[in-house]
Amino acid sequence: MLRSHPGLQAPEYYVPGLSADHVSERYGIPIEEIAKLGSAENPHGASPLAKQAVKEHLEALHLYPSWTADSLRQKIAAKYGFEYPQVICGSGETEILSLITRAFCPPGDKIQMPGPCFPIYHLFAEAEGRLPVLVHEATDRQSMAIDVDTYIEAIQSDTRVVYITNPHSPSGTWLEESEVRRIIESAPNSLVVLDEAYVHYSNTAGYISLAHEYENLVVLRTFSKAFGLAGLRIGFGIAHPQIIESLLAVKPTWNMGQLQIVGGIAALDDDQHVETTVKTIMNNRDYVQTRFDDLDRFRMISNSHSNFFLVEILDSEINSTEVFEGLLERGVVVKDGSVSFRGLEDRFLRCDVNFQQHMDRLVDGLADLP
Ligand SMILES: Cc1ncc(COP(=O)(O)O)c(C=O)c1O
Repeated sequence: MLRSHPGLQAPEYYVPGLSADHVSERYGIPIEEIAKLGSAENPHGASPLAKQAVKEHLEALHLYPSWTADSLRQKIAAKYGFEYPQVICGSGETEILSLITRAFCPPGDKIQMPGPCFPIYHLFAEAEGRLPVLVHEATDRQSMAIDVDTYIEAIQSDTRVVYITNPHSPSGTWLEESEVRRIIESAPNSLVVLDEAYVHYSNTAGYISLAHEYENLVVLRTFSKAFGLAGLRIGFGIAHPQIIESLLAVKPTWNMGQLQIVGGIAALDDDQHVETTVKTIMNNRDYVQTRFDDLDRFRMISNSHSNFFLVEILDSEINSTEVFEGLLERGVVVKDGSVSFRGLEDRFLRCDVNFQQHMDRLVDGLADLP
């Protein structure tokens, strides 16, 4: 049997949040009673403008799309105040993460990320024979905030890529602009990746404008969250044109289909959908915090600026997999920290913010556990 390269001898795969269909079937719970809180999707569904644009564009499916998704690049550039050579589009942000790994980190060199973090960062690094460095000591276990000094100290001469996720996943913690600048300025020989997948839920404009200033920065955003298009697969990166040129060179040629391009363009005009979504998340983030005050075996890590938060299990008699399974039986899907995030071990769960009735299901489910 042919063997793949050494990085792939024992590959590890992404563990997605469970689907509502799966849980409904396995536990015999009506699908409408399932609280799906493990994938950070949009409770309001897809942007209506994007859905309409996709429907209207079905007649173009026999045509190859622009290989660089140029009309979407133009629209993104105009919306965020850049020129289109500063934009790259991907089949989700995830695809752009793979391009960054290949284009900016030679095999064997280091890619730095906070521990815990979005697992794709280290899974891609390992699969491509690059060395992921998870800086666990930069994460304060009480607040789950990142200590920027410790994170900066970890950067070495062969660190090619440095990740910042803001708001962070899985904690939702937030770094101020001065902190983000400090990391970028401390890594002049690395490409700093500022992943703003969840930025809408911070209720700020984020730091995309820093891409005007720093040549070693790429800012990433996704259409999977506030625009509700996780199933369409659209993400983008903004950086200096030379960074984008390198990424284009390793990009699968027609990575964006006709429907992704038109859907993305339409979604960028759907301010109403984004506004409604952000309002729901912010209100219910506050609401669920008040409900957690009733629980003594679980602690919500407060200060999330995102559409999820961490729950710490204070009761040493029970671990995260037992809580995860117990919630599933009660129709509540979350993420088991010990399975989904390296370095979280068995004391944490990541739970999405969603409609109030689902927040109630989560808290009632936790209260009901033996
Ligand atoms: C921090 C972070 N970045 C990127 C992504 C992926 O986004 P996309 O759906 O655009 O690939 C996710 C998805 O959950 C994420 O949590």
